Amino acid sequence: MLTFLLNGETVEAEVGATETLLDFLRERRCLTGTKEGCNEGDCGACSVIVTGEDGVARAMNACILFMPQLSGRAVRTVEGVAGPDDALHPVQRAMVDHHGSQCGFCTPGFITTMAAAHKNGAVDHSDQLAGNLCRCTGYAPIIRAAEAAASEPVPAWMDEAVAGSTPPYPMPQSSDELAAWCQDNPDGTLIGGATDVGLWVTKQLRELDKVAFTGRCADLQRIEDTEDGLRIGAACTIGQVLEAVKPLYPSFAEMLRRYGSVQVRNAATIGGNIANGSPIGDSPPALIALGATLHLRKGDTRREMAMEEFFVEYGKQDRQPGEFVEFVTIPKQRDTLQCYKLSKRFDQDISALCGCFNIVVAGGSVAKARIAFGGMAGTPKRATHVENALTGKAWTEENMEAALAGFTKDYAPMSDMRASAAYRLQAAQNMLRRVYVESLGIPASVLEVRP
Ligand SMILES: Cc1cc2nc3c(=O)[nH]c(=O)nc-3n(C[C@H](O)[C@H](O)[C@H](O)COP(=O)(O)OP(=O)(O)OC[C@H]3O[C@@H](n4cnc5c(N)ncnc54)[C@H](O)[C@@H]3O)c2cc1C
Ligand code: FES
Ligand code: FES
Repeated sequence: MLTFLLNGETVEAEVGATETLLDFLRERRCLTGTKEGCNEGDCGACSVIVTGEDGVARAMNACILFMPQLSGRAVRTVEGVAGPDDALHPVQRAMVDHHGSQCGFCTPGFITTMAAAHKNGAVDHSDQLAGNLCRCTGYAPIIRAAEAAASEPVPAWMDEAVAGSTPPYPMPQSSDELAAWCQDNPDGTLIGGATDVGLWVTKQLRELDKVAFTGRCADLQRIEDTEDGLRIGAACTIGQVLEAVKPLYPSFAEMLRRYGSVQVRNAATIGGNIANGSPIGDSPPALIALGATLHLRKGDTRREMAMEEFFVEYGKQDRQPGEFVEFVTIPKQRDTLQCYKLSKRFDQDISALCGCFNIVVAGGSVAKARIAFGGMAGTPKRATHVENALTGKAWTEENMEAALAGFTKDYAPMSDMRASAAYRLQAAQNMLRRVYVESLGIPASVLEVRP
């Protein structure tokens, strides 16, 4: 039996392990304000507000959120955003005043996302709303509405009381419990944020009978900031990682700001982003360039490896049955990291390629170069020929240009719907040129270059 709060009321329900919140709301509760657009986390029409034990309200996509993930949490849908006697929430009032809605299909998702941001005092409205698509109103009136509502107080009815509950499916509370479950169920499926697994269910119609959720492992949801570096638990969300790396490696954080949307970053975990072995995941190239270490655990046996060693070949990682990603450590070092993400859309899009450069120049020469790419091979992969061509040489335009040939030895990218092989190769080379240009203090980002 799952217990959670829905629009302020306690709900107890028998739920399926991979039953989505969207289906539950629409089909079992007739709460049809939450819309189904894409059913894959891309449009934000199904956005709801989820508050955890930490009391923080988060916008999340109901279409790829499994019911057990709500255990002990509070959910507020668009039906619960207005107050008693239908008093409008400030973001609703502002959307009316600023003409933020036309056909209205996207509007409930905008309202819930805006109400979550409003509750958190977030005023980076474009980022907050990048995961919500509107095909008819245009974003300017919606952003104006968010700006207008920002100074209004949070209505009292948005307070949530979150009570603990007994999870209806395996939800280990610690790494030890997770290790025991994995040993007993080596053929089972771990679910972190379900931003991949959710699509296996909604798009591939897969049935998963043996699952465990990592979202309750308290020790895997922590980031420890020590003298030597960051120790990031596998169940930490990308949103948590973004905040943790911001002061140390701002370019990494800036790339993560374009990782999916607020809704996706509130769900997706770093463990899932690594374990899925995707060649186009955004965090592995940055972690490889930083010299991060991956820590795996099977039962009581732990082993560690350089991040790049985990990715053996396309679809194959160095992980045994019953073994799981426990945490990642990132060493502290002088920040020389530059991350570039190229995607068809600037926001809320998977990378066509993602290049991360950690080039240390000392006394005019390259003392160290760690370069890693996603989208250039079947795995996230280092550019060792380019690294070797640069290391020990003077950091000059001539030497940088000479090193570009190394890319053709390091990578044989493929052509797919995101980019052609030729484009990928040229874009990767241009990224190294960009590192060089930026090292001279010349702005190259589209956000900085001004005519
Ligand atoms: C709309 C949308 C936008 C996206 N945008 C981006 C993007 O910009 N950049 C990007 O890189 N990705 C993106 N993704 C992909 C996805 O968010 C990531 O791959 C995500 O990090 C997966 O993490 P998760 O916790 O949701 O994994 P899940 O879906 O829960 O799991 C993914 C896989 O990892 C396994 N797993 C999870 N945790 C562990 C663990 N601790 N140990 C071992 N195995 C584990 C699961 O069993 C499963 O095989 C996007 C996805 C969506 C739906
Ligand atoms: S329906 Fe599009 S994000 Fe959920
Ligand atoms: S108002 Fe029609 S999609 Fe946004």
